[in-house]
Amino acid sequence: MSNNSFVLKGSIAFSENSKDIITYSNGYLVCEKGICKGAFLELPEKYKALPLIDYGNKLIVPGMTDLHVHAPQYTFRGIGMDEELLEWLSTYTFPEEAKYADMEYARKAYSYFSEDLRRCFTTRAVVFGTLHNEATIELMDQLEKTGVITYVGKVNMDRNGGEGLEEADAAESLQATEDWLEAIAGRYKNTMPILTPRFIPSCSDELMKGLGRLSAEKGLRIQSHLSENPSEVAWVKELVPESTCYANAYELFDTMGTVDCPTIMAHCVYSDDLEMEILKKHGAYIAHCADSNMNLTSGIAPIRKFLDAGINIGLGTDVAAGSSMNMIKTMLISLQASKMYYRLVDADVKPLSFEEMFYLATMGGGSYFGKVGSFKDGYDFDAVVIDDSKMYSMRDMSVRERVERMVYNDADAIITDKYVRGSKIYSRSE
Ligand code: GUN
Ligand code: FE
Repeated sequence: MSNNSFVLKGSIAFSENSKDIITYSNGYLVCEKGICKGAFLELPEKYKALPLIDYGNKLIVPGMTDLHVHAPQYTFRGIGMDEELLEWLSTYTFPEEAKYADMEYARKAYSYFSEDLRRCFTTRAVVFGTLHNEATIELMDQLEKTGVITYVGKVNMDRNGGEGLEEADAAESLQATEDWLEAIAGRYKNTMPILTPRFIPSCSDELMKGLGRLSAEKGLRIQSHLSENPSEVAWVKELVPESTCYANAYELFDTMGTVDCPTIMAHCVYSDDLEMEILKKHGAYIAHCADSNMNLTSGIAPIRKFLDAGINIGLGTDVAAGSSMNMIKTMLISLQASKMYYRLVDADVKPLSFEEMFYLATMGGGSYFGKVGSFKDGYDFDAVVIDDSKMYSMRDMSVRERVERMVYNDADAIITDKYVRGSKIYSRSE
């Protein structure tokens, strides 16, 4: 396919905004040099010379953005889920991440993560590595080859990591970060670095301040965790007693970011009005991780409130606290969680509609990467082609119904092709 310019034909669905999904049955989707030129019922004359791939009745939806996933936790997903956050970290997660000092282990484990990322609904991801430079560079090398566009962070942690997962002090952690940035400078097209203080309990004040400075100096974005679990929130208040809330603690260290350099905060289950105000003021993104929040008995984040307040928000799988990298499953659990928040917690906070959840998985999280997550004119051409023909039905289904059905029952939705910026990076027939 020359210059990544072509036309796809099929059953097309994408978000116009947070409230509306546009669909075309037997529609045309135009890609010119990796950029979407729009979806059409009739193919405009000027695009008729482009090569056309007819996907028949298959669904074509925008690629999805996973705003929060831990690559080194992928291979232990789905086990050890009877603990809450802090015990889960010290019992399972930190000992597992310590193993990434061993490059043979890292190479193999990251090959499983990278290959499965290439095959799933995700076309963009924001990824935690471990504190190890060499293993994180290996992860970035492997991700670059997949064609998925990512931000990847070498994790910073100079306290409370336990044996084998702690940098000596702030100076060592900051030096390692600078060394990592130097080693990967100019090395990738699709893989970008992001500063990654694990969360406040893992990082001394000095380390946090140093990362805040580095972010401002180099224009580097930051990702971290915020207000996930009650014991964690209480611990942060002890560690940073002068803070008015957890988000303010990040603010005090200049790590909450700016509208032009937005920080991603995973979870925000316990974010109140004050915390929401801080997130909004800084243009921060909330990575909503409902699967993780259920598994670790963390709680349910009030995402309706975040959305209505105009705070940036997308979905994260948070593997391995979330047990799957499947964004469709993440959408379903997020829908169910928002319904239960309304029913069990606060009847004034309405559940998200299907349209709103589809928007979060595609355009909402995608906006972190620019014009990403829709088939509107000018968006990057990220698309997933899905065969749902084995989901038998006794009646004709609209495209909108088929997309909803796929989310509520993903078992027979088979990805056949995946495109990122117009390049086909996965085909089931390969
Ligand atoms: N908080 C700090 N580290 C982690 C992690 O690895 N997973 C989750 N879910 N929360 C965290
Ligand atoms: Fe996480």
